[in-house]
Amino acid sequence: MTVRIFIPGDAGALAVSADEVAAAMRVAAAARRLDIDIVRTGSRGLYWLEPLVEVATAAGRMAYGPVAPADAAGVLDAALADGTANPLAHGLAEEIPWLKRQTRLTFARCGVVDPRSIVDYRAHGGFSGLERALSLGPQAVIEEVVQSGLRGRGGAGFPTGIKWRTVAQTAAAQKYIVCNADEGDSGTFADRMIMEGDPFVLIEGMIIAGIAVGATKGFVYIRSEYPHAIAAMTAAIHAARRDCVLSTGAPYTFDLEVRAGAGAYVCGEETSLLESLEGNRGTVRAKPPLPAHAGLFGKPTVINNVLSLATVPVVLAQGAAHYRDFGMGRSRGTMPIQLAGNVRRGGLFETAFGITLGELVDDIGGGTASGRPVRAVQVGGPLGAYFPRALFDTPFDYEAFAARDGLIGHGGIVVFDDSVDMAKQARFAMEFCALESCGKCTPCRIGATRGVETIDRIICGDDRASNLGVLEDLCHTMKFGSLCALGGFTPYPVMSALTHFPEDFGARPPRLEAAE
Ligand SMILES: Cc1cc2nc3c(=O)[nH]c(=O)nc-3n(C[C@H](O)[C@H](O)[C@H](O)COP(=O)(O)O)c2cc1C
Ligand code: SF4
Repeated sequence: MTVRIFIPGDAGALAVSADEVAAAMRVAAAARRLDIDIVRTGSRGLYWLEPLVEVATAAGRMAYGPVAPADAAGVLDAALADGTANPLAHGLAEEIPWLKRQTRLTFARCGVVDPRSIVDYRAHGGFSGLERALSLGPQAVIEEVVQSGLRGRGGAGFPTGIKWRTVAQTAAAQKYIVCNADEGDSGTFADRMIMEGDPFVLIEGMIIAGIAVGATKGFVYIRSEYPHAIAAMTAAIHAARRDCVLSTGAPYTFDLEVRAGAGAYVCGEETSLLESLEGNRGTVRAKPPLPAHAGLFGKPTVINNVLSLATVPVVLAQGAAHYRDFGMGRSRGTMPIQLAGNVRRGGLFETAFGITLGELVDDIGGGTASGRPVRAVQVGGPLGAYFPRALFDTPFDYEAFAARDGLIGHGGIVVFDDSVDMAKQARFAMEFCALESCGKCTPCRIGATRGVETIDRIICGDDRASNLGVLEDLCHTMKFGSLCALGGFTPYPVMSALTHFPEDFGARPPRLEAAE
């Protein structure tokens, strides 16, 4: 009898010795003359339990975690007995409450399948979205994506189907699909998880996009800090070519290439990314023209985030109505939310839009890892606002967050306990902008540097009242005068820190005093 053991090979699991655990499992199995088959999966996203080892039994996959190499023999013995008599045992993986509470549509296969195996992908329903897309034809595919309500998961939340329609309606001999896998937002890792844990779903989504708009070539632009994702995507593309899923003939023609970024946050901005893909320095292009009209090499280009593209197969496979039924308001479907920072249970939690921030942080995240009270959370990456506990009733929804001067961005939530100094966080936001600015426009290039200096003066107590006024003015200029969202959204973390945590700046902000 061969025992199948599933051990994540995802970068997050590798960082906590998943390879060593796999080696220890082999040694323990050999000592017991046991035949084992170790499958290196992606992560299920329960990062505080990694390495989360699963052993196949007649009842299902029994989960153990976090497993250290020294625990391997005990886990194996427990799994071969009744599976429960081990302090690391969590019962059936699928029944772990944190996992069971989720609605996994985009991440349905992540942590389950062997990401290297196209056969396994098919066995778990892979390519059924593509099959339906081929039977529907381009126009109906676009209509299906429009009807699903899917919005871009990279940050701006633009309707994916509308973007595709624009590219489809733009006549050109050559069009491109570009996948934005730069994933620069702090506390985010969902793109990486998909690429390492279920790379074929991204390939399938990109092929469907190609069919829909008439593009024959795609690029996956992956940040260089993701070597495992680059390797996983490259291997999956080779496998898809061998399997003729990526084809150069009828009924469609579509091929893909991986390109590595070079480490600039602004290269995640779509036009800057296109410059980088073309081999130029990553600076932002003025719009118009939109990339949909003149993008990569001047050709009509769909540029979408990993999660947007990886969600398209499930939309096609299960139908627009099924996807649209989840969510609230104009935020349809599910969002893969990433809990990070000082949080007890950090990881990937995919759920329908509408869950409140408080539920996510307190209930699902379990509060802070330090055990101290939660003081603030930053939602939506380095350009996202800081939310105090008083706003924890905000539902996870694009419009609800915008109404409170925030954004959900790529779905990252970074938790801070009561030891955080919010004036320092505001300074960090400005400094980040100054360091990462592409330099094309003045409000961002000069404004961010002046912003750091002004916050330093406030922190030192140098004429606080007038410097707080200067900071507000500066934020206003950056918000409305910047060419892209790097300069335009940096005021969000700065002003939210000032508005909700004025005590850290040593003074009541003037506009709040005026309102009282
Ligand atoms: C400074 C900056 C950085 C960005 N970084 C990313 C990123 O890392 N990944 C991403 O998908 N979108 C990023 N975006 C958003 C992209 O410009 C663009 O909206 C997105 O790729 C479109 O795909 P979507 O419609 O599927 O979200 C960034 C935007 C800005 C202004
Ligand atoms: S806002 Fe900053 S990053 Fe964006 S175009 Fe202007 S200088 Fe470049």
